[in-house]
Amino acid sequence: MSRYFKYKKSVQLADDASRLGLAVELLPDLSPLLEPFDVDGRKVGNRLAVQPMEGCDAEPDGKPGPLTIRRFERFGGGGAKLIWGEACAVVPEGRANPRQLLINDANAASLGAIVQTCRETHRGECGDDDDLIVGLQLTHSGRYSFARPILAQHDPLLDPRTVVDKATGTKAGPDFPLISDDELLRLQDTFVAAADLAYRIGFDFVDLKQCHRYLLNELLSARTRPGRFGGSFENRTRFVREVAGRIREAHPGKIVATRMNVFDGAPYQVGPDGAGEPCPFASPVQSTWGTRANDPREPDLDEPIALIGLLRKLGVGLVNVTLGNPYASPHLLRPFEYPPPDGYETPEHPLIGVDRHFRLTAQIQSAFPDLAVVGSGYSWLQVFAFEAGAANVAAGRATFMGVGRGSLSQPDFGVRIASGEPLDPKRLCRTFSYCTALMRSKHNELGQFATGCPPFDKAVYGPIWDEAKRPSDQDFDRK
Ligand SMILES: Cc1cc2nc3c(=O)[nH]c(=O)nc-3n(C[C@H](O)[C@H](O)[C@H](O)COP(=O)(O)O)c2cc1C
Repeated sequence: MSRYFKYKKSVQLADDASRLGLAVELLPDLSPLLEPFDVDGRKVGNRLAVQPMEGCDAEPDGKPGPLTIRRFERFGGGGAKLIWGEACAVVPEGRANPRQLLINDANAASLGAIVQTCRETHRGECGDDDDLIVGLQLTHSGRYSFARPILAQHDPLLDPRTVVDKATGTKAGPDFPLISDDELLRLQDTFVAAADLAYRIGFDFVDLKQCHRYLLNELLSARTRPGRFGGSFENRTRFVREVAGRIREAHPGKIVATRMNVFDGAPYQVGPDGAGEPCPFASPVQSTWGTRANDPREPDLDEPIALIGLLRKLGVGLVNVTLGNPYASPHLLRPFEYPPPDGYETPEHPLIGVDRHFRLTAQIQSAFPDLAVVGSGYSWLQVFAFEAGAANVAAGRATFMGVGRGSLSQPDFGVRIASGEPLDPKRLCRTFSYCTALMRSKHNELGQFATGCPPFDKAVYGPIWDEAKRPSDQDFDRK
């Protein structure tokens, strides 16, 4: 069986899925995606979500740049009723790249313009924006902060690939200091203040980002960390519980959300044939979250489910389920046709990766049937993504389907589905990883290229791609 996407008809895809023993179902009737849903008292007009898709195009001070505004214009006019705004750092030292958004008083007005832009274009295309919600993903990049890695724990799997001194290439050893409890306490205040600001400037929800091995995700697995934020489940989840509780207490009517890894999995490396293989590990693995200690290739959702239960009681009403690490296990996070430049060929049929997303999301949804749960990992399915989303929503395996890479190539998918117009076959994301390649390109005067979809949004990103692919020593800098 070919591992490449070659499906002209849904029956062919369904055949491969059943041959692989997977439960990927397709429903040609897309109407379940057009049903409204109430999230914490806010009506959301359909089940289509735009996933957070960072464009690495902010100004150096963290204000949105022209391409950031353009992206939100396109998302707003696209017809999805849930727009999950991208990663926005809460402190400068927590930015993942020098062009990541940054929330603070000085940037507040221009960040607020993102929401206004979104709403205006949405009204223009859809008539009404009462049932549109727009959120902002509040983040600290932790180990993947570009200026200097900031570690919550020592991780025997990730430390050997975490460069703490770019000049010498030194990796994080046992002596490299962890972020202190006092710094984390201050950071909690910063998250609360950032949420306050985000609501004030018009965002309908804030996301406490606990995924992709950034800081709040790493804290969840900080079993070997001493002090009040490490060790026990209670300590490891303290940061996010306290922050969520404080935000909700200060803003009882507002939606508090979280994008959470429910399965970190093992880091992968390039194997002898170019395909990814899990890095060697010694059992039990203590440094991962949602992952079986004696086999980190397998999920274990007990702790993620327990945490979501606690967060729910604290008022978190919207959960976006995701997996993996963009630097160390990209195939888990976004099943792909061709790998990003710092990646490896897919170690599994991408349908297996899609199915993993669907199964784990379904497990979370079945543990919390009334919770608004967004599923991820759809784009590899190309045109069939929406039939899969309809099947998942209709069967109660997810509340919303989230579209990531596909929303860069064809942001107007929601308008098309609502009007019964087919998707444009010429702008379907093919998961060739151009967008990730641009994200990994750092060799310009800003230290970061903007990202988008070079093949299908060519007028804007074609020239950026041409510039980025010019040979350079630092081409496709590996973090
Ligand atoms: C260029 C790019 C930017 C992304 N930015 C973010 C981000 O800001 N926050 C986040 O949680 N995930 C981010 N992701 C991950 C996506 O939201 C999504 O989970 C992933 O692409 C898988 O979904 P898909 O198969 O629909 O693309 C990004 C992915 C890509 C390729």
